[in-house]
Amino acid sequence: MRRLGTVNFDHGWLACAGDVPQAETVGYNDSKWHKIDLPHDWSAEQHFDSELLHGHMHAYLPNGIVWYRKYARIEYKENERVFLEFDGIYRSPDIFVNGKHLLKKFNGFIGFELDISDAVQPGENLIAVRVDNSAERSSRWYTGTGINRNVRLSIRKKLHFLRNGIFVNAQGNGSFSVEAEANSSAKIVFRISDQNGKELLVLNADNSGSASGKIESPALWSPESPALYKCTAQLLDENGQVSDELSVKFGFRSVEFSPEQGFILNGKKVLLRGVNLHEDLCGLGTALFKDGIRRRYVNLKSWGVNAIRLAHHPYAPEWMDLADEMGLLIFAEAFDKWTDQYNGWQVPFEETWRDDITEFIRSNRNHPSIFIWSMGNEPYEQQIEGPDHYGVDIFVKLRDFARKLDPSRKITAGLYPARRNGICYNHPDYMKSEIAELAHEMDVVSANYMGMFFAGDHKKHPEMVFLVSEEATSKGVAKWFDFDHEIGCGSFFWGGYDYLGEAHWPHKNWYRGLVDRAGFRKPISYHAEAAWLDKPLVHLSVLASQEKESKEWNDVILDWADLSSHWNWTEGKSSMLAISSNCEKVELHLNGRLLETLSFKKGDFCRVKCEIPFEPGELVAKAFKSGKLVAENKLITAGKAEKLFLRPLKYGNESDRLIHVELEVQDAKGIRCPVNPLVHFKVSGAGMLRGVVNGDTKSNQRFNCSSLKLHEGRGLAVVCIKESGKISFEADLEIDGKTIRASADL
Ligand code: GAL
Repeated sequence: MRRLGTVNFDHGWLACAGDVPQAETVGYNDSKWHKIDLPHDWSAEQHFDSELLHGHMHAYLPNGIVWYRKYARIEYKENERVFLEFDGIYRSPDIFVNGKHLLKKFNGFIGFELDISDAVQPGENLIAVRVDNSAERSSRWYTGTGINRNVRLSIRKKLHFLRNGIFVNAQGNGSFSVEAEANSSAKIVFRISDQNGKELLVLNADNSGSASGKIESPALWSPESPALYKCTAQLLDENGQVSDELSVKFGFRSVEFSPEQGFILNGKKVLLRGVNLHEDLCGLGTALFKDGIRRRYVNLKSWGVNAIRLAHHPYAPEWMDLADEMGLLIFAEAFDKWTDQYNGWQVPFEETWRDDITEFIRSNRNHPSIFIWSMGNEPYEQQIEGPDHYGVDIFVKLRDFARKLDPSRKITAGLYPARRNGICYNHPDYMKSEIAELAHEMDVVSANYMGMFFAGDHKKHPEMVFLVSEEATSKGVAKWFDFDHEIGCGSFFWGGYDYLGEAHWPHKNWYRGLVDRAGFRKPISYHAEAAWLDKPLVHLSVLASQEKESKEWNDVILDWADLSSHWNWTEGKSSMLAISSNCEKVELHLNGRLLETLSFKKGDFCRVKCEIPFEPGELVAKAFKSGKLVAENKLITAGKAEKLFLRPLKYGNESDRLIHVELEVQDAKGIRCPVNPLVHFKVSGAGMLRGVVNGDTKSNQRFNCSSLKLHEGRGLAVVCIKESGKISFEADLEIDGKTIRASADL
């Protein structure tokens, strides 16, 4: 959403960790504070510490209090109002302008604005923000600490639109309604244009600020073809001059849910091939950079993901903006838990949920990517009878409130583990149990780890629609086949990327994701691709250790083993292969000899295991369909490390602030060497090194560091663009007693 007179306010802040007395006052001496640009996550800059209390929740990185100050020259005219817009601050910020306390907020995941007109003055001003993330537990996963999302300054005329004051509700047949809300009644005009900027319609709003119209044969929004339109609302003063302007992108699409077919987009059944995400980005903590999200979405889309559950809180707007633009369906969720949420511990949930849901829905309801609202994840209330009757009473309150803010979308909540009467997985009659009371109130029943019940529940409740909001990555993605694909909407694996937190030392990240924490695909993601897509695929991976790791986490059994895709193992030992394929037959050739012919049957769920002796050279998998060779994959033993290959990722958008540089150690032939050497970086010119990370969740490697230990020959350096101009990037790889230098102009 864009508003006239609104500018980015991220640059030139000062930061200091700790609770500094008087830091809000104008005269305070901040000369020793760190100069930073937002977004900023203080926790992600610190060392990992195994001793931290509740460290397994927040990735063994410290939580704390951080103060921020910014001196800002603010010019505005008499009669104009001055606002600060924050997309979110983790957490409990107190905001001061020129020493005056203006606002206290608790929920660290939600955006807000504040009118600072009565505290600000034309010319120099001081904005101070105290961020308090010192609570021992404020979330079940890593949240970061600081002003970790973007900030804007907005100068508005006296007559202006309200926050999130525009709502376009567009249908797949081209008809739409639009409404806008201003702080005083005045004439409103809506201008509709297509993605090339061509104006298609101009509509005058009625007295309530609403209008409706129709575009003939609109380009429909879908993951494959995410067509967007723009609606600009203009608020006119009594002289007919534009007093305020808000514009949003929107899309025409129809979303339906059917008990017989599941999810239907633009009239066609679509199976949701989803993953769950948390908000931290590779090497950046939760400091929100659009380019970090873009790299993530490009990756996920490339192997078939078409839907994402943004678990379990409101996300920064860039996540939805990019999903609209790039074509991903979004399951948007308001809370993790309800009254027992950590977020609500400082103030009762009952006091905050209305404001939080209002902001969550009003700020997001124009995004065509969002196909459903979730009111919460695994609330404890569903397991207990009273006083909310297994959570039904709370859910109905939240649902009805949300529905008034957006009648156009269906509403759900993540159910787990309860069935009727609070029966959970450890009850002897669990498999014979009835669906939970709460399910009867949901438009769509979203259940975590309970897809196996859908077919039976559907028979008893033929009016219900089912979706798997979380699924474990046990035995690869075999569980994709656990629910009835005909009636089910689809499923979301937990989790898409290894995210910080929810892990016990030495791990720092949840480590059963489909992509590692540096953003490199794990072998299991190829298994998902084979299971999801028809395009012939075969992929080879090797069980990295003989240890089988089966673990229980949040009551879910995770049967899982570490896989690697390289062919540098110990000679004479055998290697256990995991081969993913959607073809009928796969031949394994080792150094030109046919070793095995494997057939893939239905019950194999696109993955077959096979033990072969390790012998250096070339292992080739040839996949056949109807007797025809249709896909091939190779693992080749890498020789001595000879070079460091740099792959800078630039997306070419004007607003880009990062360049991700992927690093790979290669032998003379360009084969990746699975080694773990150290690389030292030097970045000069118009950029600076912002973060480094490898894929190893056990690594103690700090993100805020000028050197990086690689993992299996790979790593990532994230460079922040400071200004326009050349950025020189140098990386020195220390290996076998020598230094190999790689450099690039970014
Ligand atoms: C689920 C929960 C997720 C995550 C996951 C780990 O039950 O909803 O947030 O904790 O377990 O297995």
